[in-house]
Amino acid sequence: MLPRVIIHNGVSVDGRMDWFDGDLGLYYGLAAQLEAEAILSGSQTMLAGLDAAIEEMAAMEPSQSPQEDTEDERGVMVVVDSQGQLGKLHHLKVTPYWRDTIVLCSMATPAEYLNYLGQHRFDFIQVGEQKVDLRAALAKLKEDYGINVIRVDSGGVLNGVLLREGLVDEVSLMITPTLVGGETPRSFFVGPDLSSAEDVISLRLIHVEEVGGGYVWQRYDVIK
Ligand SMILES: NC(=O)c1ccc[n+]([C@@H]2O[C@H](COP(=O)([O-])OP(=O)(O)OC[C@H]3O[C@@H](n4cnc5c(N)ncnc54)[C@H](OP(=O)(O)O)[C@@H]3O)[C@@H](O)[C@H]2O)c1
Repeated sequence: MLPRVIIHNGVSVDGRMDWFDGDLGLYYGLAAQLEAEAILSGSQTMLAGLDAAIEEMAAMEPSQSPQEDTEDERGVMVVVDSQGQLGKLHHLKVTPYWRDTIVLCSMATPAEYLNYLGQHRFDFIQVGEQKVDLRAALAKLKEDYGINVIRVDSGGVLNGVLLREGLVDEVSLMITPTLVGGETPRSFFVGPDLSSAEDVISLRLIHVEEVGGGYVWQRYDVIK
């Protein structure tokens, strides 16, 4: 059994993820309505925000961290990092945004990085030869951690692998009122061109809502 996998992204009307500033408050407000128990991010997404997040944490009052004796409803952060690129992750060991971090690694992940994760008491799941075997990792997240719903907060590359491997159940898009254009593949779904129309992914619209400021929230089930 696998968890329900929901991709949630803010995109331009032409499906791109670069150049525009989306409304982050709205983005995370919509994300919360998806009621996921875990968030899945790629290493590049994590790296893109890591230094700013570390700075933000350093500036935060200790009282802004959740109390240990209150019920902790924050999700778990799961990050894909077979190459061991997140050597600063320990700075985000304690954050107000998620209660724990699990790193997904492969057999090719450098031993020093696995040692680093162990030293800082990060849980890690090691599946796959070179890249992480995402299907096996999702199965372990369900079986070993009881995660039933996972929200993917990532860029087009990880989304693309998950979509092409048939691992996505829902796509949730906050459409921002912008057009970006461009030739580089910075859409929320990056992957090799298809060679057959058979592999087009069909969706069923399950929700559409104007959420203010010209933003539209669209949710689709992936038809499998
Ligand atoms: N607008 C939005 O809603 C939104 C949301 C999140 C992020 N972003 C933006 O998206 C950008 C990053 O996007 P990105 O697509 O470049 O990076 P990404 O989302 O981090 O995706 C790359 C990840 O995919 C993994 N991967 C690639 N091929 C794989 C395979 N065959 N099997 C398993 N895993 C595989 C990589 O694993 P390894 O690390 O193991 O190589 C890496 O962790 C950032 O600029 C970020 O700000 C936008």
